[in-house]
Amino acid sequence: MLIGAYSKEAVMMSNLASSVLPTRTQPLVADALTTNSFADDVRAGLTAHPKTLLPKYFYDALGSQLFEAICLLPEYYLTRAETEIFETSAAEIVAQLPEPITLVELGSGSSRKTRLLLAAALARQGSLHYQPIDISETILAQSAAKLLGDYPQLQITPLAADYTRGLGALTRRAGERILVLFLGSNIGNYTPAEARDLLRQIRRAIQPGDGLLLGADLKKSAALLEPAYDDALGVTAAFNRNLLVRINRELAADFDLSQFTHRAFFNDALSRIEIHLVSQRAQTVTLRALNLTVEFQAGETIHTENSHKYDLAQLATLAEETGFAVARTWFDGERRFSCSFWQAISETGR
Ligand code: AVI
Repeated sequence: MLIGAYSKEAVMMSNLASSVLPTRTQPLVADALTTNSFADDVRAGLTAHPKTLLPKYFYDALGSQLFEAICLLPEYYLTRAETEIFETSAAEIVAQLPEPITLVELGSGSSRKTRLLLAAALARQGSLHYQPIDISETILAQSAAKLLGDYPQLQITPLAADYTRGLGALTRRAGERILVLFLGSNIGNYTPAEARDLLRQIRRAIQPGDGLLLGADLKKSAALLEPAYDDALGVTAAFNRNLLVRINRELAADFDLSQFTHRAFFNDALSRIEIHLVSQRAQTVTLRALNLTVEFQAGETIHTENSHKYDLAQLATLAEETGFAVARTWFDGERRFSCSFWQAISETGR
């Protein structure tokens, strides 16, 4: 989920506005697509050296379901650890800002974990305005409908947009403080430079005294990290290889799935898990829709994702560089995962 890549697809809610969205939601209607297509990005990635594919393309219908399955795997501790933090500390987290707050969420998806924060804010202030931002209008509509059914005092403004456009469309009602949620260690899928750009964008969209809640996976041994990205059941491998299934389907390609395997390893120097697809032999793949043939050497890889792992000092530096101060951090019982509350500070306070 690279920032440049994410801002390439702006799927908006114009069609959804009248038909799918439940009442008590106010859809954002915004501009049409502006940048590269799947076809352009695949061509660029497979003709690059080394070969790459953008991780945002994991999330077609099947890929999204496979990611939901990853979150349930025994090896993938991240989701459980973050949920544990919310179960024990949601009330304290939302109390970091004076009420009333409005919650904004980047990449809200199903909003499942967020429910714990929504419930805590509702318990504190009686009603709540929630502004989820997600590229998928289908997921937004589904989760908004469920949330509105379960929380009568909730108002939702779903923003079906990339982060840049969504952040540009935030609303603040009289007297409200904004708490932006960026959860699930999604920050890890950005390079450090991209992460800084995105955090600065978030900072510019809010005001001094508002806040950001950042869920970030922590650096730890390869022995603990690698199984989370190479599980025994092979779900992460299927998630990775589904990119080739998608390319075969959408770009009339002939990737032979039996000839590409999943590889995940911890790159200690760059403090990141890297995910690759490894060609099992020298082979040629044709993408008819692109009028392109791609040669692979035996052992050559397509780099499909990075998942950066931070330590607390690096997170504090990141906050400082982007106009925030880390005010409070919570951990799961095993201290594998962190959720920190970052206060937006004024320019003069930096
Ligand atoms: C979405 N993101 C935070 C996941 C991660 O842990 O980097 C994506 C993922 N890729 C493989 N497993 C999970």
